Amino acid sequence: MSDHLMATYNRLPVTFERGQGVWLWDTEHRQYLDALSGIAVCGLGHAHPAVSAALCDQAGKLLHTSNLYGIALQQQLADRLYAVSGMDRVFFANSGAEANEAAIKIARLYGHSRGVHTPAVVVMEKSFHGRTLATLTATGNRRIQAGYEPLVSGFLRVPYNDVAAIRALASGKNDIVAVLVEPVQGEGGVRLPDAGYLTGIRALCDEFGWLMMLDEIQTGMGRTGAWFAWQHSGAQPDVCTLAKSLGNGVPIGACLASGKAAELMQPGSHGSTFGGNPLACRAALAVLDTLEQEQLVARAAQAGQAMLEQFRDRLHGVAGVLDVRGLGLMLGIELDRPCTALVGRALDQGLLINVTAERVIRLLPPLILNDKQASMIVDQVSTLVREFLVAPA
Ligand SMILES: Cc1ncc(COP(=O)(O)O)c(C=O)c1O
Repeated sequence: MSDHLMATYNRLPVTFERGQGVWLWDTEHRQYLDALSGIAVCGLGHAHPAVSAALCDQAGKLLHTSNLYGIALQQQLADRLYAVSGMDRVFFANSGAEANEAAIKIARLYGHSRGVHTPAVVVMEKSFHGRTLATLTATGNRRIQAGYEPLVSGFLRVPYNDVAAIRALASGKNDIVAVLVEPVQGEGGVRLPDAGYLTGIRALCDEFGWLMMLDEIQTGMGRTGAWFAWQHSGAQPDVCTLAKSLGNGVPIGACLASGKAAELMQPGSHGSTFGGNPLACRAALAVLDTLEQEQLVARAAQAGQAMLEQFRDRLHGVAGVLDVRGLGLMLGIELDRPCTALVGRALDQGLLINVTAERVIRLLPPLILNDKQASMIVDQVSTLVREFLVAPA
């Protein structure tokens, strides 16, 4: 590894050279089954022909102009996102953190428009919203915040899956204007919302006039077996953020808003040099086309359910397995002990997995995986887990 890179990452000892579908090949020509999709980014797998063709074509025409001018592909993408989400308007950014920054700025504008001078956003314990100063403050993980103090003011924290805790905050005079929550916590350990959690937040937001803001950066674009995870509950948010799989690897983020929240940004209130440039929008349009044509949202629901059942079957009664859970192709296996070592063991066997929150094996395979590949992941991971629990060291 180059001495000239900042030491921000603990990298695994592998470098990939090429990919095709669910497969990756390293510089030594070893083949790997990708059950992580670059952390929920490559939902269409690697080198999907529709995305590759769209990018090559666009690169030969126009990469970038500026948001000083009209961008037809951006307008098309906004219309397509409206069609699948029902969210009125979108601001395009380049990453998840930036999409969340836009959401937080909307919350503040909303507060000021209502005469609240120090607007506060309710956020959750164990959440993850990004690495900019505002988004790491919103993040419910001290390790991510440590060293970056002073943090940003205007956030109030409560436990996830606890509507009563949010209601309790509302009774104090604390200038709440919005609630920001991941519908399924990803980095926090694939933690699913209890029945009634999201609809409960929706009801509270309606009662108190707050914005309901959902971070769908990891869960969005079909990952959970619906276009957006909120659609499982029917609790439509006022603001929703996307990134990760929206461009299948081409950096793009989006902050969607509806109703009053969609009207707050005016010329000059926010901006981005690259946000929504022709290349990124062309990639996202190809992603939307492919998700629709190949019916991958329904496929994620069906494949995810099948994998969940297979895992429950294979790991039933195994001492040390606390829970097997998931929604669509977002799967978590929680053990009773730290298990980060499993990542390296899987890699040695040609399988890419992730461990988050120290004890939760997280799987986010591409939505295009076939039944055989899904079963291979279940077989390999179940065997790794059983072997690890017998001999964890
Ligand atoms: C739920 C959630 N929000 C925000 C982010 C930050 O996205 P980015 O790394 O693109 O800034 C992530 C990234 O893992 C995420 O999972």
